[in-house]
Amino acid sequence: MKFFIDTANVDEIREANDMGIICGVTTNPSLIAKEGRDYKTVLKEIAGIVDGAISGEVKATTTDAEGMIREGREIAAIHPNMVVKIPMTAEGLKAIKVLHSEGIKTNCTLIFTANQALLAARAGATYVSPFLGRLDDISTRGVDLIRDIADIFAVADDIDTKIICASIRNPMHITDCALAGADIATVPFKVLRQMINHPLTDAGIVKFQEDYKAVFGE
Ligand code: E4P
Repeated sequence: MKFFIDTANVDEIREANDMGIICGVTTNPSLIAKEGRDYKTVLKEIAGIVDGAISGEVKATTTDAEGMIREGREIAAIHPNMVVKIPMTAEGLKAIKVLHSEGIKTNCTLIFTANQALLAARAGATYVSPFLGRLDDISTRGVDLIRDIADIFAVADDIDTKIICASIRNPMHITDCALAGADIATVPFKVLRQMINHPLTDAGIVKFQEDYKAVFGE
């Protein structure tokens, strides 16, 4: 399973990119709004940092296929690595179909059932984004959805759509998604940092330093 970072904060993106652990970025209207900066400027800057798929979402207020297609073309024109993120609606599926026919990559977002994922794949989505954490939040096992989608896509030998596990809340989500057969997890910076740390690693570093200094000094 590969990692994308789920943020529109360029400092976090730079830091994760420097560690060599990410090969893409996902943003959404809430994440962009949090940064309080111009949408296209931020996407351009991100594309200049990470050499991989960058998901930029159509405006939250655009609900018709024509509008999503128009905005999708604009997003795709920002950089060759751009992926147009489109919500799972009937209009969204129409937009995915058209953008796919034009060679524009799409990420169908707000996926909460295996059927939605299958529909998006059939419409031509490059990626589907099932939201794990938001399901867990309402007492439904998000990882079961990831496993179902992975199984269904594996059975259909004509589906190339990749599964991006989204709405990741903690490091255990990552392990669960990898075991469930996901292609990618898009991870908030905070969770990436949590994945790095372990108290025994910290204690081991201190012990090595103490033993080394006792014999060789600084
Ligand atoms: C990414 O594609 C999603 O928009 C994001 O992971 C949603 O996360 P949230 O449920 O924490 O808002």
